Formats: sequence, C-alpha cells, structure tokens
Amino acid sequence: MDEPEIDVVRIFDTTLRDGEQSPGATMTTPEKLDIAKLLARLGVDVIEAGFPAASPDDLEAVRRIAVEVGNAADGKPAPIICGLARTVKNDIDKAWEAVRGAARPRIHTFLATSDIHMRYKLKMERHEVLDKVAAMVSYAHSLCDDIEFSPEDAGRSDPEFLYQVLETAIRAGAKTLNIPDTVGYTMPEEFGALIRGILQNTPGIENCIVSVHCHNDLGLATANTLAGIRAGARQAEVTINGIGERAGNTALEEVVMALKTRRESLKLDTNVDSTQLVRVSKQVSNYTGISVQPNKAIVGANAFAHEAGIHQDGMLKNQQTYEIMRPEMVGFSKTNFVLGKHSGRHALRERLVEIGYDLDETAVNKLFERFKEMADKKQTVTDADLEALVSDEIYLAKNTYLLEGLQVACGTMGLPTATVRLTDPNGERHVHAAVGTGPVDAAFKAIDAIVRSNSHLTEFVIHAITEGVDALGEVSVRIESAGSPAVMDAQKGSTSPRTFGGYGADTDIVVASAKAYLSALNKKIEIQAR
Ligand code: KIV
Ligand code: ZN
Repeated sequence: MDEPEIDVVRIFDTTLRDGEQSPGATMTTPEKLDIAKLLARLGVDVIEAGFPAASPDDLEAVRRIAVEVGNAADGKPAPIICGLARTVKNDIDKAWEAVRGAARPRIHTFLATSDIHMRYKLKMERHEVLDKVAAMVSYAHSLCDDIEFSPEDAGRSDPEFLYQVLETAIRAGAKTLNIPDTVGYTMPEEFGALIRGILQNTPGIENCIVSVHCHNDLGLATANTLAGIRAGARQAEVTINGIGERAGNTALEEVVMALKTRRESLKLDTNVDSTQLVRVSKQVSNYTGISVQPNKAIVGANAFAHEAGIHQDGMLKNQQTYEIMRPEMVGFSKTNFVLGKHSGRHALRERLVEIGYDLDETAVNKLFERFKEMADKKQTVTDADLEALVSDEIYLAKNTYLLEGLQVACGTMGLPTATVRLTDPNGERHVHAAVGTGPVDAAFKAIDAIVRSNSHLTEFVIHAITEGVDALGEVSVRIESAGSPAVMDAQKGSTSPRTFGGYGADTDIVVASAKAYLSALNKKIEIQAR
C-alpha cells in the first residue's frame, strides 16, 4: 500500500525562553548550552534560545548556542537559532548580535494586539500598533532574512484587526506568523477557527508559515495547539515538560506523540526523534528543579505503568489492549543495558556514547571512578543510573563549594546530627556540625553555617531511580533567595523573587540531598555574582 502524503509540522522549542520564564527555572549558561545540544539531537526545527535584551548573560547564552549548536556538525543540519525581541530597536539589535553566529539565524519580534493590552499596557491606538509593526519588522528584516512576528494576546484580539496586523508584518518581511494564546483563554474550536480565519483572510499568508503558541491556564494548551495545527498551522511552539509562564506552555512531548500516534488519520508528523524525549525531559527537570508529575502524559514515571489487575491481565494477553504507544518509543527503555563491577573503562565509554553522552577523556575518567564505586555497592549499573551519574557530575564540575565529606548520626536515640566538610571557591576546607529535625535537615543546617547563604528551602523531592534497596537516590531541591534582588521580567516589566533548582544523585540519600542543596546554593552564588 502507498504511504499516505504526510505533512511536516515544524517544532519550535521555547524551553530556553518561555520555559525559563517559569518561576525558579533559572538556568546557567552551561546548562542552557547542554539543553540546546539535547534539543538539537532531539531534532527540533527551531530553538528559541532566549531573550537577549533581558541581560548581558542572556545575550551571551544565546550567542554561544548560536555558534556552538547552530552550525552543522558531523554532516547533520543544525536547527534554526532564534532570539526574542520586543518591537524595539535596541531589543532587535541585541537579538541580532546574539543569533548572527548561527548558520540559520532568526529574530522573533512581538507586539500586543488585544484591546486590553493596547489600552492598558501599551497605551497605543490601533494605527500606532500598525505603524510600529511595519517599522520594527522591516528594521529586523534589514538585519536578518528570517523574521517571525507574534501579535501578543492574539487569542483575545479582534480577528479583523489581527488580519491587518499580520498583513502589515508580512509586507515588512515576516515569513513566520505566530499566533499566541498568551493567557490560555481560548477553547479548541475557537482557536482552530481563529487560525482558519487568518489563513483565509490575510493577504500574503499563503507564502508564510502560520505558527501556534498556546499557554495552559485552562489545561487546554495541547488541545488548542492541535486544533490550530488541524486548521492549517505548520509550526508549533512548545516547551519540554510544558514548563513556562504561570501554568506553562504546550508540552513538546504531547504534541509530538499525538501527531506520531495519530499519523495515519491526521496525515501529519514532525522531525523529532521521539526516543530522546525522556532523556531531555529528565535533564530539563534536573536543571530547573521543576519535577515532572508522575501522571504527566508521555514522560511521567507512571505514563506506562499498569496497576489494575484487569489492565495487567489485558497487557499480558496483548499489549495493545491498554497501550497506544510503546514506552521505548519515547525513550523508556525496557531492556536496559547493564554494566557491572567487571566492566571496564572502554565498555563504560561505549555505553555513554550509545545513550548520547560524548564526553572528553577527563570526564570519562572521573565518571569511571564513580561508576566503580557504584558497581561495588550495587550489583548492576543501568542506563538510568549512568544518566543520573552524568547529571550529578555536570553539577559537581561547576560547583563553587564542593562536598568533601558528610557523616550523620540519626535514629530514635539522641539528636539527628550531621558533620559536613566543604571546600570553598578558594580551596579552603571548612568543617561544621549541626543538629536538625532529621539527618537531611541537620546536613542542610551544617552547609548553611559554612556557605552563609540567605535563602530558604521551598521544595525537596526525592526518588529512587531503579528498583530495590540498593537503588540510586535522586534528589531535586528548590531554594528561594531571601536577600537577593528580584528578577526583572523585561517582557512584562514585573518582578518576582528568585528561585534556584539543584540536583544530586547517590546511593546514600542523605549525601544525594546534601549535593542537591549545595548545587542550588552554588547556582545562586554563580548567578548573583554576575
Ligand atoms: O505568550 C506569548 O504571547 C509569548 C510571545 C512572546 C510569543 O510568549
Ligand atoms: Zn508565551
């Protein structure tokens, strides 16, 4: 039978821009680079790497991603690297400075078009908005060939006015017209009709790509995105794990798997390699400290778990009774490759490359020592264990304060006590002991006494990676900075307190907790030192 004609929907990932706007999702430049590399490997078409005018650090992160990820490597085409800019000359200049090093740079500029935004936020009349769009899109186009324009709050804009704004942007040189449901207000039928109306009524739109960008305030982001795609949009703006402003953005993994699973009936697909989804989801969660809820579609720990007896019985008879996708399709590997204490450096390196980590020799050597320690404690080391070790090493490698030693006394007798030994950024050693409500609390108090960081713990999540009592424990924490300046959100002009995420993994959960806490403190110190 002939393969039906399949249309490709471009995946525009905005984890590093809209996703990073989630409270506490602040990432360092090396973390952003690492995520950008994973996104390129995943096969996304466009990476929105940041908002360069927000700060010199944001600009530098986008610039490095443009150079290091936005150029072809090993014969593989690189993704488009995009920078966001308000319709302001300075923002556009900064965005261009940041993305120009990529083989395929893009500037994405936006201006609000809903009456409520124009009246209260912009204090502009409709004709002024049209003039600004014409002037700033054509200015951006004088620098960069690939321009995307977004009418912010399009979901609540007057469609007739929207057609005029989009026509203006097209005449000024925009090739991608992105339609955001900025406040997650629309219903799927409404959003689909909006996209259909735009395609039917905007002169010049037939030569452009229409894109959709939905927020999840009513839990409808994926439904709205799919409605927009079914109405003719051919780019979807999404984030890993659906992180983003307020309730978040549309989750990349949900759109990709909806299109893949219903490929035959929708006749649509993406360029994404879905087997990488779980890995990227995990890394984003580790770096941001925002954990993935167990029942999260596609990448949640329970997404493929069958609990009810009737379901298990059905699964044993035929897996299709209760599974519409195989876990392997999204990267949950059933048959983990297992290494043991007799495995050598070569086997470790080979396996790391196979699961996507092409590390240099020093990193492999460091990892090998930790792998041997782990293999001594645990009989087998699985892919999931290796991934956790790599994440942990990435954190350790850039730590300012390093955990050198930790000893705890706990139980029903006496006070839980922890003694911690740290080296500071100057290589000096510090030892401190503290008591707490439990061993983790005591360890955190001892660390606080040395680091003297004015912050408090807001979230602490612990889970085992593999099954059994010898499982590796993973800990994610989030701390809120009590004394630090609030974050200025340049896009909205608002401020919010700063939150930092940290991650640690170890066979000892108190050690994993101390590592996670210290990594969050280190991130706070690093970001505030800028
Ligand atoms: O939600 C939104 O409107 C945005 C725009 C900048 C595209 O993020
Ligand atoms: Zn958005």
